[in-house]
Amino acid sequence: MDIEVIPLSSSIGAEIRGVNLSQPISGKLQHKLLQIWHKHLVLLFRGQKLSDKELWKSGDWIGQLGRRSRPIERRHENDPYIMLVSNIRKNGKPIGSLPDGEMWFHHDMAFVDVPHKATFLYSIEVPQHGGNTKFANMYDAFDRLPHQLKKTLSGKRVLQLFDYKETSQPNLEELHNVEHAWQPAIIQHPDTGRKALYINRLMTATIEGIPHDEARKIIAEVLFYAEHPSIIYEHVWKTGDFLVWDNRCSSHARTDFSTAERRLLKRGMVEGAPLISA
Ligand SMILES: [Fe+2]
Repeated sequence: MDIEVIPLSSSIGAEIRGVNLSQPISGKLQHKLLQIWHKHLVLLFRGQKLSDKELWKSGDWIGQLGRRSRPIERRHENDPYIMLVSNIRKNGKPIGSLPDGEMWFHHDMAFVDVPHKATFLYSIEVPQHGGNTKFANMYDAFDRLPHQLKKTLSGKRVLQLFDYKETSQPNLEELHNVEHAWQPAIIQHPDTGRKALYINRLMTATIEGIPHDEARKIIAEVLFYAEHPSIIYEHVWKTGDFLVWDNRCSSHARTDFSTAERRLLKRGMVEGAPLISA
């Protein structure tokens, strides 16, 4: 089958036309999709119709479906693989996770030792306005860092933590009761060999070996490059969109949306390996 590849921005993202993800992906197509994914980091497949079982298999061309990190007592759904990302409430309780409003830039699961390498989102219901997902190219962010910042971060580790709040600065004093992990500040992608920045606003708390106040200033400076408009694609969701992205070399954020609107997406992940320091 011939597929079409349409870039979504000058830096990151491509739409793929001619692929039905409910059908098995041939070895030849798998090879092609992986090549395109490694080049564009985020792939969009529109107009998909996927049952939950088909959704489980939709990332098989990248790797094995990953288990969820959120402890079962802190979530509302039972599926060990698929998370409902939704603000819809039943009897006052959200039916899913990460329900409301804006969410700052982050790399999914940066706060565990072995983060899943890919995330996919499949949209069921989307708001008329907002609730968009922004993606930033972390290869380009690294490439554009001033020489001095590259030198400062080279070989350093950063502390990544997440306390399941969508917009709050990571707080070192909460370390004992939040999930956290030390990760390389700059990673080398195992498939492309390229260097990518692994720092984000929501989760990166501090830099190893640098006094905390100074580290916070450096992180703020780095975020100027990590969130620069020139390396960002903003996705406006339509029902039936399936998006899959590489968590090693991209970060993403959610824009705000009205509490009066319903939003329901299903999220799955693909298992990864320990990150390689560049
Ligand atoms: Fe995320």
